[in-house]
Amino acid sequence: MTTATVSPNAADVIFDQRNAVAVQPLAAVTGAEIQAPLIHGGHIRYANLDYGASAPALSVVSAYLNEILPYYASVHRGAGYASQISTSVYENARAIVRDFVGGRPDDSVIFTRNTTDSLNLLAGCLPATDGRPDGDVLYLDIEHHANLLPWQGIPHRSLVAADTISGTIAAVRAELEQGGVSLVAVTGASNVTGEILPIRALASLAHEHGARIVVDAAQLAPHRRVDIAADGVDYLAFSGHKLYAPFGAGVLVGRADWLDSGTPHLAGGGAVKEARLDGVSWATGPARHEGGSPNVLGAATLARATQVLAGLDLDRWHAHEAAIRSFLVDGLQDIEGVTVHQIFKDTDPDTDTIGVVNFSVEGYDAGLVAAYLSAEHGVGLRDGRFCAHPLLKRLGLPSGSLRASFGVGSRLEDAQRLLTGIRELRSKGLGWDYVVDSGRWVPANDNRTYPHWAPNTPGTAGAAPCIDD
Ligand code: ALA
Repeated sequence: MTTATVSPNAADVIFDQRNAVAVQPLAAVTGAEIQAPLIHGGHIRYANLDYGASAPALSVVSAYLNEILPYYASVHRGAGYASQISTSVYENARAIVRDFVGGRPDDSVIFTRNTTDSLNLLAGCLPATDGRPDGDVLYLDIEHHANLLPWQGIPHRSLVAADTISGTIAAVRAELEQGGVSLVAVTGASNVTGEILPIRALASLAHEHGARIVVDAAQLAPHRRVDIAADGVDYLAFSGHKLYAPFGAGVLVGRADWLDSGTPHLAGGGAVKEARLDGVSWATGPARHEGGSPNVLGAATLARATQVLAGLDLDRWHAHEAAIRSFLVDGLQDIEGVTVHQIFKDTDPDTDTIGVVNFSVEGYDAGLVAAYLSAEHGVGLRDGRFCAHPLLKRLGLPSGSLRASFGVGSRLEDAQRLLTGIRELRSKGLGWDYVVDSGRWVPANDNRTYPHWAPNTPGTAGAAPCIDD
């Protein structure tokens, strides 16, 4: 294997006053300098444009993990020194997360595995009278499966979002006026297109009609300050692994009454006041839903990451992200045969967006473009249907598209590399042969290697299984 390092053409990076803020990352992340092998030989700095799936850990968060790891011990269950420290760190993480989202003092903060887990938890807590649910859950057709499938097991209604934000608000209003909705479940920002929904307006509409609102903030919280008390949001769910703390924790924050009387999410030790052989008295508070030993390191690092985001200068944070996004969108739209996909923004240009750009390249399967970008340009992004099948169908992309997503560790050069790759694809075509293996496009005769501790190197049987979700 050659060890030559391939440098990006620095001259290609075009920047001016508008996007100079994004030449450098806004915050240090672990793995920012990892070298990706190229199919033609050599390595290049990995251009991570897949933050929307899982963001890298903030360097501050990795350092914090190392600091607290020696003290890791049982939580809520031990009188020992390390147990007391672990318990204190875990419980303090709730207060930090509550502050981060602008929670009310009496909101519950429940640690879960991820956003999907949080929303499933809430689905078990909708109120019922005499065993009959008090109303339906209303959700839009643009949702991630995490904010769609948990509601399908309980009374629900789906609604097609309009192609403008104002039209969508009107459609939600009309549906609420029919009555019988107990919860509006809406994404804060689309994981497919990055477009932001007006959660304050939707919360106020829900309340006017006697319903509550839950916001899937998996994509929103890593990119925008959220203030649930000010916005009138009743429940908010998000994941550590998209918020620079990839250590297995997510969170649900919100009004305690439903949560304290709902079905315990994880029956087991710690979730009870008293267990008998023939029955149980469940605990209230977060413990009711956090059966088993909790993920103290996940919760603590999630909380630490929220402190870092809370400390960012808001203008600079948004300018950094907006610069990369507009650089990428403008560049993609300039390339013949490339289409950028949006739900609202084509008809509603003022729609606010986070660091997510969705696109496709005429004449090429999305999976093939993703394999090419990885193998020939060291760019990582996601292709497929993004766990949002109804939305992809609606956008006319039943077999998927490509998504570039970025955040505080990103730099303009990442976007530049993607643009260079797509321009070369259009002008010169693929520089290698690709085949479909186990349903996934891969380079033929792939001789790139992974580190020795990652056992399935490319091109070997069983390498990199992919779920088309
Ligand atoms: N839900 C994550 C995404 O949108 C995995 O990619």
